[in-house]
Amino acid sequence: MSSLLALCLLPALGLAHPWSSFAKHEARTNAPRAAAATIHLCGDSTMAKGGGGSGTEGWGQYLQYSFNSAGFVVSNSAIGGRSARSFTREGRFDAVAEKVQEGDWVVVEFGHNDGGSLTPTDNGRTDCFGAGAETCQTTYNGVQETVLTYPAYYKKAAQQFLDKGAKVILSAPTPNNICETGTCSWGPSRFDYYAWLAAAELGGTAAGVYHVPHGEYAAQVMTNLGADTVNANYPNDHTHTGPYMANVMAGSFVLGLRCGTSALGQAVINSTESLESSSYGPCISHNSTVPV
Ligand SMILES: *[C@@H]1O[C@H](CO)[C@@H](O)[C@H](O)[C@H]1NC(C)=O
Ligand SMILES: *[C@@H]1O[C@H](CO)[C@@H](O)[C@H](O)[C@H]1NC(C)=O
Repeated sequence: MSSLLALCLLPALGLAHPWSSFAKHEARTNAPRAAAATIHLCGDSTMAKGGGGSGTEGWGQYLQYSFNSAGFVVSNSAIGGRSARSFTREGRFDAVAEKVQEGDWVVVEFGHNDGGSLTPTDNGRTDCFGAGAETCQTTYNGVQETVLTYPAYYKKAAQQFLDKGAKVILSAPTPNNICETGTCSWGPSRFDYYAWLAAAELGGTAAGVYHVPHGEYAAQVMTNLGADTVNANYPNDHTHTGPYMANVMAGSFVLGLRCGTSALGQAVINSTESLESSSYGPCISHNSTVPV
């Protein structure tokens, strides 16, 4: 009789104490969802599993190490060659939104394939130039397509995730290797601006949309590591990182997250002090228009 009573109480205990090892076991066996929230990653080869091939790796593969997997599990949906536009057209944001559950986080980071021109030949990835509601008409693969701007794609994707009860990180892209000349030097691209603009226009931190100035943090650690170390870890070209640099890129994202105000940043297992006292360098301050 008493064991039957205990069984009836198990699900209730699981809900009341989600972090006890007992409750985690219950969540795996009985609960409709895992106790851990998922951090979904949407991006290109610089984030993807296997990077750009030929021994390179994407930074998304290293993010899990900065989170306790009992609380947050990383799911990397990044894929090489994609832009905010092609990730949208191919239904990849939709596919992630299908999986998103309330309490999850989604990181969106594009920029490496979003530039270029739609004419004379549209590669299917280039966004319409601009920061607002501009549209461009094109024919790609024989199909007429209305192309949006990068911030418009970011906002459209973020809204899908917000609607599912997730919080969203609209991240700036990593730069290409800023040390390839032998001297490390960085300046922001328009995508650094577009990414925080999109986050701000959705309502920013108050609306559950955060920005990580990943480009700026990545440039800071590359400069601190120095050209020799950085160059040795871009084995094939100036875009795709070897495993060492991919881990560095993940760390610079983690520092940017940690230095911001999101609950996900507070959940990073590494202290701000431990990150700041490494090559990653200090938190970078931003004015109030940047929703970090
Ligand atoms: C945070 O700490 C874990 C465990 O020591 C480590 O594996 C990970 O690389 C650290 N993250 C960063 C960004 O240094
Ligand atoms: C706020 O910071 C951003 C990013 O550094 C910058 O582009 C923008 O001009 C700044 N805005 C103001 C009002 O200072």
